[in-house]
Amino acid sequence: MTLKDLLEMDLKFILVGGKGGVGKTSVASSLAITLAESGKRVLIISTDPAHSVSDSFDLDFSSGEIEKVKGVKGDLFALEINPESAGDEISKAIGQPMNSVDFANMTSIPGLSELQGIGQDMQSMPPPGMDEALSFAKILEYADDDNYDTIVLDTAPTGHTLRLLNIPEFLDSFLGRMLKMRSFLSNAMTMMKSLFGSKQEKDNTIENLEKMKEKVLIARDLLMDQDRTQFVKVMIPTMMSIFETERLAEELDSHNIPHEFVVVNMINPDNPNCQYCTHRRNEHLENIKYIESVFGINTLTNVEAFDREIRGVAMLKQLVDKML
Ligand SMILES: Nc1ncnc2c1ncn2[C@@H]1O[C@H](COP(=O)(O)OP(=O)(O)OP(=O)(O)O)[C@@H](O)[C@H]1O
Ligand SMILES: [Mg+2]
Repeated sequence: MTLKDLLEMDLKFILVGGKGGVGKTSVASSLAITLAESGKRVLIISTDPAHSVSDSFDLDFSSGEIEKVKGVKGDLFALEINPESAGDEISKAIGQPMNSVDFANMTSIPGLSELQGIGQDMQSMPPPGMDEALSFAKILEYADDDNYDTIVLDTAPTGHTLRLLNIPEFLDSFLGRMLKMRSFLSNAMTMMKSLFGSKQEKDNTIENLEKMKEKVLIARDLLMDQDRTQFVKVMIPTMMSIFETERLAEELDSHNIPHEFVVVNMINPDNPNCQYCTHRRNEHLENIKYIESVFGINTLTNVEAFDREIRGVAMLKQLVDKML
């Protein structure tokens, strides 16, 4: 199975991830272009504050709104979310500056101090940071949205992705506790109100929490559905990248997220006249043998390093040609 097969799988979500700087954004952008040019309506999303999708396309998507990508024959849209400005919006909503919220100690949010057990949840898994929280919020938003055939998510480097993968489980447990607490509080309030004869007002909190929990479960199921989701692992042929990708694969397995495809990027091209290049290439080819033994040969895509940076639609299409 090659990346061609991946593109023909009719997936709803393609997540692209790996170690920092290995070519995640380039691969995600190239796949998004190819899908769009094959007639799909595609949205590429990034929560990287460095605006790398803009840089990769050599266009500007930093408005925070969905924008149509120029220069692509098809319906390709890009959304680059800035975690900082999204943080400002959340600050407005919760009535205190986002950076004053200590995720590891949620009791800093007024009204949540009653949530016993939340501390344990937080300790048992790393608390999400802004970019993972936003990536997951986008997965929630688009999980049952028919406006786009495929969503390509350009993820942040591995550590962040692992935290992203923990979010569904974390939210499920968090919302479950909130719901338990809310129904307890709500019963107590009803009793007090009936005792003191105050008028009953409709409280939508439980309903909203339940809806949110349902959405989280839909998104979690989508991420685990091998007919609808694939996580493409991008790596370079160095031992450090291999080890990190092996750990990533274990984590993806433990969350039941399908991840059959590997892109080995930036392989040193053959150049017999350059001793340095030959050494690097031989080392890369050795490492690729090891990669084949770990991940299998059939779903591997090898890509040589270009002699220049990959920027703009034309170059991204050249990357597609090398990948497919
Ligand atoms: N095969 C390649 N040949 C040459 N340059 C490449 C290749 N693949 C990617 N690049 C270049 O390497 C740099 C890093 O690529 P990219 O931004 O896609 O990586 P990334 O994994 O998304 O990085 P980050 O972890 O910072 O998000 C970019 O300048 C890109 O143009
Ligand atoms: Mg990137």
